[in-house]
Amino acid sequence: MYGQYIAAGGFMEELKSIQWFPGHMTKTKRRIESQLKLIDAVAILLDARVPYSSCNPDLRSIINNKPRLVVLNKCDMADLAETKKWLSLFRQKNIAAIALDCKSGKGLSAFIPAAKNVLSEKIASWNRKGMTGRTIKVMVVGIPNVGKSSFINRMSKQNRAKVEDRPGVTRGNQWFTIGKGFDLLDTPGVLWPKFDDPLVGEKLAYIGSVKDEILDTEQLSGRLLEYLRDNYPDPLCARYKLNVDEIMPLQGYEILEMIGRKRGMLAAGGEINTERAAVTVLDEFRNATLGKLTIDRAEDYPNVRI
Ligand code: G4P
Repeated sequence: MYGQYIAAGGFMEELKSIQWFPGHMTKTKRRIESQLKLIDAVAILLDARVPYSSCNPDLRSIINNKPRLVVLNKCDMADLAETKKWLSLFRQKNIAAIALDCKSGKGLSAFIPAAKNVLSEKIASWNRKGMTGRTIKVMVVGIPNVGKSSFINRMSKQNRAKVEDRPGVTRGNQWFTIGKGFDLLDTPGVLWPKFDDPLVGEKLAYIGSVKDEILDTEQLSGRLLEYLRDNYPDPLCARYKLNVDEIMPLQGYEILEMIGRKRGMLAAGGEINTERAAVTVLDEFRNATLGKLTIDRAEDYPNVRI
């Protein structure tokens, strides 16, 4: 088992070659393209824990020259210091961006002013043409599970956009009025056909935007543990009562075994049930029980484009 685990190259290849782009995503892409003429700007929802990996590179060509606003959602689960670095990187690149969380609603009030700011030239031109108060129409896009429905629900203060926990659930496009003269267009989550960087696929699996069933949970969890060992050793050790010096020289699978042992997760015959430990680690990362952790660091993506 461990022998298999350290053959991480194989796992990375597996991630790269996964055939997971469902047919309805192609339809979604086409639908987004055909609706561009109806909207003024695009709000790109990203997961604040993985702002780079949760950004669909295909979107750039789809949304073309439309004004855009980046919305870093799920800030309540991300490392605040890293979120600030991301906002500062976006600012440097003249990419409009705000951070918020749809769980508490923190930061939501900045959305309409930020969108209006992105459209300031257009609004001024409408005003010059006597179209004062023209309704602003913004399309909300993002990968599955990034929080599009939650965002629209919060913004429209009603429960019309259905919240689903299954990545890739198809929804119809719908309009929502979120304020006087301000409408949002909901779109289904869309992924892209191939990860050029296998790390991106891996990170999307950590946050649960790529289906678990198509990946080896123990390997995935082991890789996450190696990232946490290197970047967030204190929260990791605090959660699983581990010793920092002890885990530093260990590979992910060995840390997983240690966690399983500490938690008394034993299979028949007294072996450590590493599969159960892996599910626990992934669950606890996904619901932030492990702490507020960011997996994509702004300093690693100085050339980010949206
Ligand atoms: P989607 O439309 O983009 O597919 O995402 P959706 O709104 O369905 O949200 C996916 C999951 O993420 C939901 O959890 C939702 O509650 C959660 N979520 C959305 N925004 C935030 C946020 O800012 N912070 C946190 N902590 N969670 C957020 P779920 O467990 O799948 O559903 P539920 O149990 O909340 O109903």
